[in-house]
Amino acid sequence: MRGVSILGSTGSIGTQTLAIIDKNRDRFHVVALSAGTNLKLLREQVRSFHPQLVSVKEPSAAALLAAEFPGLEVVWGDEGNCTVAESSAEVVVIGIVGFAALLPTLKAIDAKKTVAIANKESLVVAGGLLRQHVEKSGSRLIPVDSEHNALFQLLERQPREHVRSLVLTASGGPLFRLPGLPLEDVTPDLAIRHPNWKMGPKISVDSATLMNKGLELIEAHLLFDFPQNQIEVWIHPQSILHGAIWLTDNSCLAQLSQPDMRSSLGFALHYPERLSEVIPKLSLKDMAKLEFFEPDVERFPALSLARAALAAGPAALIALNASNEVAVGRFLEKKILFPQMAQVIERVLEQAISEPPSTLEATFQLDAEARRQAELVVSGLSRRTS
Ligand SMILES: NC(=O)c1ccc[n+]([C@@H]2O[C@H](COP(=O)([O-])OP(=O)(O)OC[C@H]3O[C@@H](n4cnc5c(N)ncnc54)[C@H](OP(=O)(O)O)[C@@H]3O)[C@@H](O)[C@H]2O)c1
Repeated sequence: MRGVSILGSTGSIGTQTLAIIDKNRDRFHVVALSAGTNLKLLREQVRSFHPQLVSVKEPSAAALLAAEFPGLEVVWGDEGNCTVAESSAEVVVIGIVGFAALLPTLKAIDAKKTVAIANKESLVVAGGLLRQHVEKSGSRLIPVDSEHNALFQLLERQPREHVRSLVLTASGGPLFRLPGLPLEDVTPDLAIRHPNWKMGPKISVDSATLMNKGLELIEAHLLFDFPQNQIEVWIHPQSILHGAIWLTDNSCLAQLSQPDMRSSLGFALHYPERLSEVIPKLSLKDMAKLEFFEPDVERFPALSLARAALAAGPAALIALNASNEVAVGRFLEKKILFPQMAQVIERVLEQAISEPPSTLEATFQLDAEARRQAELVVSGLSRRTS
């Protein structure tokens, strides 16, 4: 029986992880869960999976839960997330969205866990630091993002000197099939309507702008140590081929499956063994028409902004992530328009310093400063828009 703790248990990644555990109760048990504010779902999860420990965002919610579930240890806030990350589980799933995942991810690594990391923002802002901690602690970091999970599987059995380049695919999101639609008219409702994946609102907007692929390109560089000119991005609307590697003899190896996050989550939970029948098998019909296109970087500048930030260095990556988190949040609140998200990020990147942060505290300071700058740009833009 493998013990599993899940950060972000009430989100898309968290609920899909619990769905796998539910089907494999002879192999896994839940040690600890952490959530934000969705108490209703968290209560159901506690009743069904009997964790020893839960964490929530607010102390008032923690007090409520502690009264309802005698014997359950209840903690809260950033410290609560870290307690969950360090709990006695063998595997820790990082399914919190955004920068808030950074600290608990570091704690899970330092506690020598197998860390199944779905959260991409912490890798973007501190990928180098996370890797240093992995090397020091001997923990294992398994990417859950489907593209990186595919690359992990492909690279695991291939000598590095045989690999020429990496390929990440992107569905193109809900706007790919709407080339004539003015981007000013894209509403939050439309932007989060992803054609293939059911995900949280932030990553869904990132998919629509192509920032998701920009963050993933950075994630791939930091995880696998390939320079960005050896990482290709292909638009692949069917989301069946998740990642591929080109080899020196010009053959290409690829990983294919149904677009279903339980595939990479199941892989990470049970690594290095395979679970059986985690997702439905692909049929020939599913594979009959696989399409691939170049990304449209004129219409969707986020991918170029991400490439520029990666070239500029770690401080720019923190600015990119923070300004994107602010821009997506304000777009979802309808304070700025869809194309203005890229403008916010571009303006903040123009002000990013070149000196890389030398400590974790400096990373937090740069993040806070970039958020402050992004809010200033947003308030200027929203005054002009309204
Ligand atoms: N969904 C996917 O298919 C997918 C695929 C690849 C990568 N990812 C990455 O995985 C991460 C999660 O994505 P998602 O789609 O699962 O997001 P989501 O559905 O929005 O879920 C986010 C989760 O994080 C929790 N949370 C937010 N802030 C928190 C905090 N400060 N402390 C504790 N918990 C907090 C939320 O709790 P409440 O809901 O209770 O407030 C929720 O459980 C993102 O970084 C995303 O890029 C997701």
